[in-house]
Amino acid sequence: MLKVENVKKAFGPVTVLDGVNLTVNPGEVVSILGSSGSGKSTLIRCINGLEKLNAGKITVDDFDVSKPKELAEARKRSGTVFQLFNLYPHMTALQNITLAPIEVLKRPKAEAEAEGRALLTQVGLGDRADAYPAQLSGGQRQRVGICRALAMKPRYLLLDEVTSALDPEMTSEVLDILAKLAKDGTTMVFVTHEIEFARQISNRIVFLEKGVLLVDLPTEKFFAADGGLAQPRVAQFLSKMRKD
Ligand SMILES: Nc1ncnc2c1ncn2[C@@H]1O[C@H](COP(=O)(O)OP(=O)(O)OP(=O)(O)O)[C@@H](O)[C@H]1O
Ligand SMILES: [Mg+2]
Repeated sequence: MLKVENVKKAFGPVTVLDGVNLTVNPGEVVSILGSSGSGKSTLIRCINGLEKLNAGKITVDDFDVSKPKELAEARKRSGTVFQLFNLYPHMTALQNITLAPIEVLKRPKAEAEAEGRALLTQVGLGDRADAYPAQLSGGQRQRVGICRALAMKPRYLLLDEVTSALDPEMTSEVLDILAKLAKDGTTMVFVTHEIEFARQISNRIVFLEKGVLLVDLPTEKFFAADGGLAQPRVAQFLSKMRKD
């Protein structure tokens, strides 16, 4: 499992995560909601070992991200897709996808390419393997980004606002892929502002507020009057998101 225990993170005098606890079990889809600046991306970066924790502990299948010797194993298990399409511009879609399997997992090139092509086909881009990122639309690039993460066969897929830079049509292209992955049992941690979508695909929803994890509930309970909605901040957040 993926385990975040009493994690604190500050940037200078500003506390951004203030004692966060979160457990994600294999097979679960957990969405993280919260206002801008509440610490969602920082939490994902901490899980990736990209930020040094001030206190607490994060383990991915018992590998501690704070221990240099364990970080590589932890990272192999948690594939991440970020908001911005961070594909290598000088490599084709297929090369972006096969780079880490070949270099890190030492997979034979032909095998990695066959799997890369299969992944591209799954996301509807079977005919764009040789396109460079600049030749792809935003939604297509983000689908390649998802393939790149999946090519490492992570146990946990972390997604940080993967649709927020996309127009509605491209957003639905990408959400369709994620819904399919969820249905196939992919374990996901999903940071999003797409409330209705989160509601459809998540087993659990957590709500971050100023670095504190205020609510951690099964999805149905999160949206129930005697559950998440009983928390004034959650009710306020949901009503604002629905108006926007
Ligand atoms: N490297 C950094 N140095 C200083 N402050 C930072 C840094 N990274 C994030 N912060 C601050 O930490 C807080 C949380 O940022 P974070 O990016 O985690 O928020 P978020 O919940 O992902 O917001 P959004 O919904 O806008 O993406 C913000 O106040 C931000 O300004
Ligand atoms: Mg963010």
